[in-house]
Amino acid sequence: MCGIVGYIGSKNAVPILIEGLKRLEYRGYDSAGVGLLVDQKPIVIKNKGKVSELEKRVGTNVYTAPVGIGHTRWATHGEPNETNAHPHTNTTGDLFLIHNGIIENFQSLRTSLQKQGYKFVSETDTEVIAHLIDSFLKKDIDLFKAVRLALSEIEGTYGLAIIYSKEPDRIIAARKGSPLVIGIGDHEHYIASDVSALLAYTKQVVYLEDGEVAEIRAEGFLAKTILDEDIIKEVTEISMTMEEIDKGGYETFMLKEIMEQPESIQNSLRGRLIPEEGTAKLGGIESELVHIARCKRAVFTACGTSWHAGLVGEYMFEQFLRIPTEVEYASEFRYRNPIIQPEDTILFISQSGETADTLAALKEAKRKGALCLGICNVVGSSIARESDSGVYIHAGPEIGVASTKAFTAQLTVLALITLAAARKRDMSLADGKAIVEEFLKIPEKVKTILSQRKQVEEIAEIFKDATNFLYLGRGYNFPVALEGALKLKEISYIHAEGYPAAEMKHGPIALVDENMPVVFIAPKDSTYDKIISNIQEVRARRGNIIAIASEDDDVIEKYANYVIRIPNTIRMLMPILTVIPLQLLAYYIAVKKGLNVDQPRNLAKSVTVE
Ligand code: G6P
Repeated sequence: MCGIVGYIGSKNAVPILIEGLKRLEYRGYDSAGVGLLVDQKPIVIKNKGKVSELEKRVGTNVYTAPVGIGHTRWATHGEPNETNAHPHTNTTGDLFLIHNGIIENFQSLRTSLQKQGYKFVSETDTEVIAHLIDSFLKKDIDLFKAVRLALSEIEGTYGLAIIYSKEPDRIIAARKGSPLVIGIGDHEHYIASDVSALLAYTKQVVYLEDGEVAEIRAEGFLAKTILDEDIIKEVTEISMTMEEIDKGGYETFMLKEIMEQPESIQNSLRGRLIPEEGTAKLGGIESELVHIARCKRAVFTACGTSWHAGLVGEYMFEQFLRIPTEVEYASEFRYRNPIIQPEDTILFISQSGETADTLAALKEAKRKGALCLGICNVVGSSIARESDSGVYIHAGPEIGVASTKAFTAQLTVLALITLAAARKRDMSLADGKAIVEEFLKIPEKVKTILSQRKQVEEIAEIFKDATNFLYLGRGYNFPVALEGALKLKEISYIHAEGYPAAEMKHGPIALVDENMPVVFIAPKDSTYDKIISNIQEVRARRGNIIAIASEDDDVIEKYANYVIRIPNTIRMLMPILTVIPLQLLAYYIAVKKGLNVDQPRNLAKSVTVE
């Protein structure tokens, strides 16, 4: 979703902003722009489309600006075009700003500003902020205060960066519900909506919290609340490296992220398994484990792929903890006045830790007094900081919009939590040890599956022109069917649906003919025989069957047109293996269709609006 970068110091801001915006491209966007002060004169350049286009328009040597801000916009109010792109300015053009988030009361503010004579040029909600600040500047109020006064009238969410040519030695930044971080350099400062834009320049950062506004100069910064209270901010050192956010020799981030899953799963496990005790140690939730193990109800709340991870978590909690468990879309949870008891455990799963609906659901659950645990990838993200405690999945930065390695790392952490809690309850030492033993073999097994990617690529070639796909699985592999269908939809734009295999008879079977590829997730487990019956039902209707099957299944070839083999493991860990071929299948189909897999159309990596 939208991205923010800013610079103030003695270097030229232009290449820093362009480079920073490129680093944020993965979030998904449809237009881009920069605002600079060149010899204290404001220059705003923006366009529909890519940052590379903006780079051409700005030129590399045309401007030298000691201060500037840059933005990638993902359209919410008003179509993606040059006028609606950020920065937005006041009427005189001496103030310009960029904004992530949504101003909910923009219509009433716009009407009232229009009555005062302000003319609007764009359809955006953002433009009201520029005119509103301007209305305070006109009363001879300095920029820092004018911004705070304007924000006290604004309802909604924002990450904001503002420059005013009459006070050229500062950028004002503000945050509410949309992340913003200040990077500290040597006699220079940066701002960004995401640390990956700053990594090339500094590792010393300060995270702004909701309701905070900062005045940032080359030499330092001052943070206050909107209500003018001073705040002391803590400096954090980022541990992420540049190599971690580069493509590392792969053609795309998505392929790199699929291929590095043996390591990312290993990183999620590192130091957390205790083989001799048959359990897991999770520092962040150690003191909550007894509550988790004995709670009356568990609820997983998330969006997208993370929601699918929650569905797998439900199977784990019910099998090993025997706790009634529910899985809720965060967007539904937050608006249905959820019934929450103090004995509940609510788990919020989010790769980015910034998804607006998941964050709002967390705040609602906290208000109602439940134990709220975060399962996040991005360290220091809003959900990680707002939850009572939590576990990082340590998958490393995920840049491809379609989530892959974060999903398998989420499953890994969910299994670790289940194991640790189950050992506080009914699970025996022997059973715990057996799970740990299996867990340790998972990264190698993932490697084995990845080594067959050529075969998956061949299957992708056969089905790349299909217009529909069906994904079917049972038990633990039903959520995997949903995730496989989602991966294909996201990056190849082929319509795909996931179903519990037995439900097929209640509707989807009507779609099956010789043009319908049906992916069956059919490892040898307790429902294997049933799924073979389902396969036969599809075969009888001439559907094309692609089966994900166990390595020792010597009959599956009789029923399926194409078979992708996976090693055996215990049921709880099976989804970590079965999802890998589905990620590869979606990936190769999209590549063969010539699509941009890292930045699929209309999607965003981090959805910071409702
Ligand atoms: C977006 C992304 C998905 C992701 C979902 C939830 O839709 O494109 O890949 O699964 O948001 O994101 P989160 O960061 O909360 O896991």
